[in-house]
Amino acid sequence: MLILGIETSCDETAAAVVENGNHILSNVIASQVELHARYGGIVPEIASRQHLLSIESTITESLRTANLSIQDLDGIAVTHGPGLAGALIVGVNFAKSLAYATNIPLLGINHLEGHIYAIELEGFNPEDNPGFPIVSLIASGGHTELILFKGHGSYELIGRTRDDAAGEAFDKAARVLGLGFPGGPAIQRVAKKGLLEILLPRPTIKNSLDFSFSGLKTALLRKAQELKVYPPPIEKTLDKELIANIAAEFQDSIVEVMVNRTLEAIELYKAKGILLGGGVAANSQLRDEMIKKSQVPVLMPNPKLCTDNGAMIAAAGYRRLIQGEFSSLNLDVIPNLQLSYDN
Ligand code: KG4
Ligand code: ZN
Repeated sequence: MLILGIETSCDETAAAVVENGNHILSNVIASQVELHARYGGIVPEIASRQHLLSIESTITESLRTANLSIQDLDGIAVTHGPGLAGALIVGVNFAKSLAYATNIPLLGINHLEGHIYAIELEGFNPEDNPGFPIVSLIASGGHTELILFKGHGSYELIGRTRDDAAGEAFDKAARVLGLGFPGGPAIQRVAKKGLLEILLPRPTIKNSLDFSFSGLKTALLRKAQELKVYPPPIEKTLDKELIANIAAEFQDSIVEVMVNRTLEAIELYKAKGILLGGGVAANSQLRDEMIKKSQVPVLMPNPKLCTDNGAMIAAAGYRRLIQGEFSSLNLDVIPNLQLSYDN
């Protein structure tokens, strides 16, 4: 079974071909990161325009690398939400046109389900290893959710952020510290040289598995103002050591909160394993701490498969295809699409 996966929900135009849901034949990503970097965040208008410019060549390249023609495909999977409406429309319309012209089945995929199924690209079928239920922490620029993964296609939302997503918090903190965009990788890099000498809170919500990162973000801003690293001083160069210490403490706080909540969820739901996904799951401290503290196996895709890509959409599409769950050509974008939660 050969599936083409198309992803345009945010700032990456991505297309990939995956065989049998787990074997990557090609994985092409046209990143827009440099275009958005000068604005310190994603500009939706620029994102949609750039997707339009890149989509055709990205898909052609993914087929060429896989040494396939469009007629060889068994399914065309595309992200139809959640994400930026104008960005999603580009991928969905392109996928619909391809499906219409070729009669190949269309598969509308939830972006978060894509992040979950990225793990199959590493050769794991979570059903066998470690077995359901699994607590999945999906942390990205737009989401921070704890999802009880109960079976293929069966999910229960057990925790979520009440304000900012973890990736969004990383991006905003990096902006305050003058570290550029995207913030997560920049903070991780700088934090390696930092010491945990500055105190920032560990935000927790009582009797709940929910997250809240906006207070931490404000605490970081206040600390940066107090230590005179923000606004950036004009008359002297920034104190790199101080910035590294703030970055290290900030990363430590987010990681500690995410690890603790995930471990609480494991206890509460007697889950057999942990599954990480989404851009923030590329964070090395999060990966290391989760493994160190967990009593159950921790599954996580390679960092490159944690950030947005087309292969994860194809992997999720494969599961839909073998269950006979096709989309009609009326498939629409749903910017706030939820996973079909059972609760
Ligand atoms: O999943 P993703 O590629 O796109 C969305 O669906 O949003 O996630 C992007 C987010 C950004 O906020 C970025 O700063 C964050 O993931 N990120 C990281 C790391 N790499 C990417 N955050 C922390 N540490 C990283 N190494
Ligand atoms: Zn994502």
